[in-house]
Amino acid sequence: MKRIAILGSTGSIGCSTLRVVEAYPERFQVVSLAAGRNLEAAFAQAQRWKPRLLSVAEEADADALKKRLHTAGITGIEVVYGSAGTVAVATLAEADFVVSAIVGVAGLEATYQAVKAGKTLGLANKECLVAAGELITAEARRQGKPLLPIDSEHNAVHQCLRGGRIEEVERIWLTASGGPFRNTPKSQFSAITVAQALNHPTWKMGQRITIDSATLMNKGFEVIEACRLFHLPPAQVNVMVHPQSTIHSMVEFVDGSILAQFSVTDMRLPILYALTYPDRIPSDMRFPVMDLRTLDFAPPDLEKFPCLRLAYEAAAAGGAKTVALNAADEVAVAAFLEGVIAFDQIPQVIESVVSATDIGNLESIEQVLAADQAARESARVQVERVGRSPVSASPRG
Ligand SMILES: NC(=O)c1ccc[n+]([C@@H]2O[C@H](COP(=O)([O-])OP(=O)(O)OC[C@H]3O[C@@H](n4cnc5c(N)ncnc54)[C@H](OP(=O)(O)O)[C@@H]3O)[C@@H](O)[C@H]2O)c1
Repeated sequence: MKRIAILGSTGSIGCSTLRVVEAYPERFQVVSLAAGRNLEAAFAQAQRWKPRLLSVAEEADADALKKRLHTAGITGIEVVYGSAGTVAVATLAEADFVVSAIVGVAGLEATYQAVKAGKTLGLANKECLVAAGELITAEARRQGKPLLPIDSEHNAVHQCLRGGRIEEVERIWLTASGGPFRNTPKSQFSAITVAQALNHPTWKMGQRITIDSATLMNKGFEVIEACRLFHLPPAQVNVMVHPQSTIHSMVEFVDGSILAQFSVTDMRLPILYALTYPDRIPSDMRFPVMDLRTLDFAPPDLEKFPCLRLAYEAAAAGGAKTVALNAADEVAVAAFLEGVIAFDQIPQVIESVVSATDIGNLESIEQVLAADQAARESARVQVERVGRSPVSASPRG
């Protein structure tokens, strides 16, 4: 029986993880859950899963949840809150495996502490690796524990790498659907609405990652994530647009062989892979191979989607540049969702913040979080400069 902690249990990945756990009750048990502000979902999960420990973002919500659980006669669940609560969920002694699926840098501290506590990590939260990848991967190496990617592209690469050694890799090909604006002329980008940007062609995901997919910043983060997970320079991590999202990614080896992974577009599959690694177990997620007709590939348009260029530049520079890239993107995406800046102003805000950030030397999570705060503040100033009305730059929680 594998005992699981889920950080971000009320989100898209968190809920998909619970569906996997539900399908294999003889294999997996939920021991701790961390939610944010969705009290309804947190209560329903407490009722269904009876975790030992449950965390929510705010103290007042924790009090309300305790009262509700008491009234419903549900006992034995300790309710905690805030970042200390999330860390407690991630480091609970009973947990063997931690799924890191809080969105943004709000999940960083708990993810790092989980690795430090020797947990095996299933990593969906790519922002952790963008901001503090060197620290997290170094700690995982020190603990002798694998970092198992849940992000579908990196999960695909992880699977393909079982066909060869990392020294035998010529390059990685990360596939990108191209997002909803692949065929939209750049001249129309300033008029893109929030509803249009949230309408992803192939994946159903949380809001931030959906907007990041529309700007291709998500692919940029994935380039950085791949560099850090697989210890490759940015030049060996290539992106190709593949609108069908059938092939989740490929690894090209030095002898010219290319291994690709494809499967249904359902996040339960990479989650199941991570939860059962190094084994594979039967599932009902079948890909209709005989229906396969078309696989299109094209290079990404870096002029139309400058976020991807910015990510490559930050990946090459390293240090606080990638921290700033993520923090500025988080602020800019929130401002776009609030209607304060236009779609094509997202990369403008990020570029000005990243170019004003020194690379520095980040040796601790505290230093990463300080750099994150500084970049957030600078992004807020940029948003106010270019935007239509002021916004808050505070991270959630
Ligand atoms: N969705 C996908 O298919 C997918 C694929 C690959 C990678 N990822 C990555 O996985 C992560 C999660 O994505 P998602 O799509 O699942 O996002 P999502 O649906 O927006 O869910 C985010 C989760 O984080 C929680 N949260 C937010 N702020 C918090 C805080 N301060 N403290 C504690 N919890 C907090 C939310 O809680 P409440 O809802 O309760 O507020 C929710 O449970 C992201 O890093 C994303 O890039 C997602």
